[in-house]
Amino acid sequence: MPNILLVGNGAREHVLAETLVRSAHRPRLFAYMKANNPGIADLSQEVRMGGYGDTAAIVDLARHREVDFAVIGPEDPLHAGVVDALRTAGIPAVGPSRSLARLETSKSFTRSLLEKYGIPGNATFRVFSSMTGLEEFLATLPEVVVKPDGLTGGKGVMVQGDHFHTKEEALPICRQILEEHGRVIVEEKLVGEEFSLQCLCDGKHVVATPPVQDHKRRFVDDKGPNTGGMGSYSCADHLLPFLRREDILAGIEITRQVAAAIRRETGEYYRGIMYGGFMITPTGLRLLEYNARFGDPEAMNILPLLETDFVDLCSAIINGTLDRLAVSFSSRATVCKYIVPKGYGLPKDHPDYRSTAARIEVGDTGKARLYYSSVDKREDGLYMTTSRAIGVVGIAAELAEAESIAENAVAALKGPVAHRPDIGTATLIDKRVRHMAEIRKDFP
Ligand code: AMP
Ligand code: GLY
Repeated sequence: MPNILLVGNGAREHVLAETLVRSAHRPRLFAYMKANNPGIADLSQEVRMGGYGDTAAIVDLARHREVDFAVIGPEDPLHAGVVDALRTAGIPAVGPSRSLARLETSKSFTRSLLEKYGIPGNATFRVFSSMTGLEEFLATLPEVVVKPDGLTGGKGVMVQGDHFHTKEEALPICRQILEEHGRVIVEEKLVGEEFSLQCLCDGKHVVATPPVQDHKRRFVDDKGPNTGGMGSYSCADHLLPFLRREDILAGIEITRQVAAAIRRETGEYYRGIMYGGFMITPTGLRLLEYNARFGDPEAMNILPLLETDFVDLCSAIINGTLDRLAVSFSSRATVCKYIVPKGYGLPKDHPDYRSTAARIEVGDTGKARLYYSSVDKREDGLYMTTSRAIGVVGIAAELAEAESIAENAVAALKGPVAHRPDIGTATLIDKRVRHMAEIRKDFP
């Protein structure tokens, strides 16, 4: 019976906890969280609370409970160096060291790595630490995207046509990013359909999980501000309606080359998740970014389908033996819809902005699975905080059925909540397929 440490407190970690405890090895789980997640607490032998920067406290729990290995859910503890601290204490982890987590925490690291090693899929880009030459570079690109060179929770990216319109308007934004973050990345704006490809990596081998499409915008029909993700779907054939098998193979090949480049560049093996945000564009598959962890919500789509024992999978990632394990996922469709407080993601002057912390009544949610994110379990029920509250997941043979399982469960959750009813519906998916048909004109 292995002892396992899980770090993190969101719905992604709730599904990680569930997938770990259903292992035939019957592991004992110890959770380190910055806020109490009642779903994870229920599955754990012990819960310890603390900040993710306090790596000593995390190592202390791991030592005290003699854990065999740790699984790190979110990016913040990776960036704080928790994997390095655990390694010093002789405890292996699923998750990269602080240096290798630059794959996510430094967009310039990743773009430069692709450039240096001639890996396909890069965007034209340049990194600036002052305004010198910036205006001239902007002039060389038809449309641009500007981003800080660090962690921004998916909300720091400014896209021309969306967040600003002209190159002149980009200049003060770049200046502000430089003041706040010290470095700004300017890259060509890519246009196409996005998808998430979460890959497992032991440093030498890369294994893909089924592709997922996330929905970042707060409102129906992809309107409104970007959020951490309002929901996501995956299909029974392990493709997406607008994807081809070659697109997935191209994404896996890029990820393989990046894993090899990381090894050559740093001398270290990347042991953890390489989650690529890819886009199919008129010129083929392009990389938007990597994350050094599972996606939230995307983890809720793929982990419930995992047929391989997750403890064996974690061991293979740690030991560099992923090539010897048959990794499989059941052929079913999934739809995840996040329940959020009505005020989530809204600007401060919006009338619903303040309607956040409140009680949710949980009725009959049928066959759906519920994964807790920011909720508090009190004597009189579940309370939301200010962030995404519960991930509701429908799983079925067909996408339409998975969607209706999720939608019926959402209807059974009463309170000042909101969600995106369009995620996983035929109307929204048909729109994506039509968009893709236009984009693919040049490369059938
Ligand atoms: P990132 O934090 O890099 O994932 O960016 C968040 C979102 O910004 C992505 O999901 C895209 O929708 C958008 N984005 C990032 N880079 C680009 C780009 N070069 N072109 C167009 N959109 C982008
Ligand atoms: N689904 C977006 C993320 O996990 O970063």
